[in-house]
Parts: sequence; C-alpha cells; structure tokens
Amino acid sequence: MDKTEQYEMLLPQAEALVAGETDVIARMANIAALLHREMDFWWTGFYRVIDGELVLGPFQGPIACTRIARGRGVCGTSWKENRSVVVPDVEQFPGHIACSSESRSEIVVPVRDGDAVVAVLDIDSRFLATFDDTDRRYIERIADLIY
Ligand code: SME
Repeated sequence: MDKTEQYEMLLPQAEALVAGETDVIARMANIAALLHREMDFWWTGFYRVIDGELVLGPFQGPIACTRIARGRGVCGTSWKENRSVVVPDVEQFPGHIACSSESRSEIVVPVRDGDAVVAVLDIDSRFLATFDDTDRRYIERIADLIY
C-alpha cells in the first residue's frame, strides 16, 4: 500500500472518530493514536495555544517538551506564520527544538478554529525526508476535523 492509499483508509476512520465525540481533547487524543499507529510515526501529537504559548496536548510517542514559545522551533513557526511547515532534515531547520534525538524529519500543521490557529499537529519521523506534499495535504485535512 502506498501512502495515498494508507491515508485514504485512515480518513474515514478519523471522520468517524470526530463524528462520535464533540470534546476537542478527546478528538485530539484519538486522532493522534490513529495517525501514530496506522502510519508508524515516531511522535504524533498536538500542542495547544494557551495563554500565548504552545502547551503539550494529547500525543503518542516518547516524552516531549511541554511548552513552546510563539515563533520558536518548527511548532512555534507553524503557529506564528499560520502555515504548514515540512522539515526534511531537522538539523537544517534553524531553531529546531529537539525533544528527541531520534527525530530526523518533521511536519507541523496548524489546527484552526475559524481563522485562528488554536493548536498545531506535530509529527516526527526517525527517517530523513519522510513528509512530502501528499502527507501535508492529508494531515491538513485531518487537522481540520478537530474543530
Ligand atoms: N521539534 C518540535 C518540538 C516538538 S517535538 O518534536 C515533539 C519543534 O521544533 O517545534
């Protein structure tokens, strides 16, 4: 199965999960679990915007940094610039925050409530250049299900 097929299988499951639950934390928790397990990522989770910074939310994978300032790291950049950020090699991203030394590539997409970015969905891979435009498109669609 290529990754388009994997995401196509995963999307209806994600839609069913959010259809059955209105609480955003519960939605984030199951979406993180679904993506992490089906796609075999290294770290999959949410940071929520709380009082002007990103605070760790529901995730799957190793222990992670709990707070990230606006504009800092890949997550803070995605939030500040209100756009998805794909990083093929984390060592080449200025200011990358290394929560885990195993992480080699990363994607962060904004989670929006209306126009406002209220969280980010962050995914790490142990391999270089895991994420491309296909991942970005599907992960954006999944992030859009939360609110
Ligand atoms: N690498 C992220 C920090 C979060 S961890 O990857 C879970 C960043 O640079 O924002």
